[in-house]
This record gives sequence, C-alpha cells and structure tokens, in this order.
Amino acid sequence: MSQRQGLFITLEGIDGAGKSSHVDALEALFRATGREVLRTREPGGTPLAETLRGLVLNEPMDALTESLLVFAARRDHVVNVIAPALARGAVVLCDRFTDATFAYQGGGRGFDLGVLGTLEAWVQGGQGGVPDVLQPALTLWFDLPPETAAERLAGARLPDRFEAQPVDFFRRVADGYACRASADAARFERIDADATRENVWAQVEAAVRRRGLL
Ligand code: TYD
Repeated sequence: MSQRQGLFITLEGIDGAGKSSHVDALEALFRATGREVLRTREPGGTPLAETLRGLVLNEPMDALTESLLVFAARRDHVVNVIAPALARGAVVLCDRFTDATFAYQGGGRGFDLGVLGTLEAWVQGGQGGVPDVLQPALTLWFDLPPETAAERLAGARLPDRFEAQPVDFFRRVADGYACRASADAARFERIDADATRENVWAQVEAAVRRRGLL
C-alpha cells in the first residue's frame, strides 16, 4: 500500500477571529476520509513548548526574547511532533505557526523581519523526511477587522499579554498577516471571518475542497 503524503494545515488570525472554533469540524472532515489527524497548537504542542507558552503569554519580556522563545518552542514542536506526524502521512492541523510570529512579533511588536526570516529557516530547516524549510501546504487566514475582534473579546476570560493589547496593536498584527499572505499567496486562503459561524465554516470547507485536499 502506498503511504499517503502528510498534509500540514495551519489556522491563523488575530485574537478574537474565531479560528479555533472550526478545528473540530476540520478534523471530522479529514477523519471521514480515513486519515490520521493530529491537532496541535503554537506556542505549544510538546511539554517543553507548553512550558515556554506559559512564559510567553504571561511574563513581561522584550520582543527579541519573545521571538526566541516562540521559535525555541517551534523547534521542539517541529522536531518531535510535526515532522514525525507528516512523515507517517498524517494530517496536521496546527492552531497558529510561524505566520503568527511575523504578525505578532514582527507586525505587532515591530521586531526585525529579517531576523525572523533567519530564525524561520533555522528552525524549520530540513529534518527527516520534510522539505528543506518546512511550510504549511495550506494556511487558513481568518481575517476580521481588529475593532470587531476587540468587541468579541471584550468581557471574555482574563486576557493574556497579547489579548490585553490595544486595538492599534491588532491593526499592526492584521497588517503583518496581510503582508505574509501577499508574499505567499499560493499558500494562503483568506477566510472572511466577519460573518456567521456557519458562513465561516462554509468558506473553510470550500477552501479545503477547492484545493483537492480531501
Ligand atoms: P491563541 O492561539 O489565541 O490561543 P488561545 O485561543 O488559547 O488564546 O494564543 C496564543 C497567543 O500567542 C496569541 O495571542 C498570539 C501569540 N503568538 C505570538 O505572539 N507569536 C507566535 O509565534 C505564536 C504562535 C503565537
């Protein structure tokens, strides 16, 4: 029996865009085709990376420290979880990945994009069975005006270091996502997240079908 190729899909968007609420249905869609589905998230996805997540989300630090920690978490996650899952043919659904670093640390915090690009190449560089620089096959970008996202988040749970940022920060994050999307348009599917949950899901499902991934 020929081994199926792994499929790496990421979900991105500013806080409040609602991306995480579609992971269950995406998982079901791929499981129905008989595939192994691995759900994971960043920062996180391994014990070490989850520890780093706690620091990044809660401890004050500068933008370089933040960038190094999210990439350190990513390295551990890629080496120990993502690359092995792709090598055995699984569908990997990852809630955020490197586009979030370009959007949040690059756009939001104003950190050097060239340094982020160097770290990206180092951290996602070739390891067992994955291409030279590992990138998602598809990135579902949930795009929502920052003002609408802020309304959705208001009064929700206790905000972390990012969720507590003013709307201006999220405007820069949203611009960061838009830049990444236009630099790699073939990888991105823009989902208009300013719609009902049902409509947003219909867009997600259509994007996956259109690309022949099912
Ligand atoms: P998020 O994915 O929104 O999880 P939850 O739904 O539990 O809040 O939270 C992760 C936060 O981390 C989010 O605010 C974005 C931020 N982040 C970065 O700043 N850089 C990164 O590289 C990643 C992956 C996330």
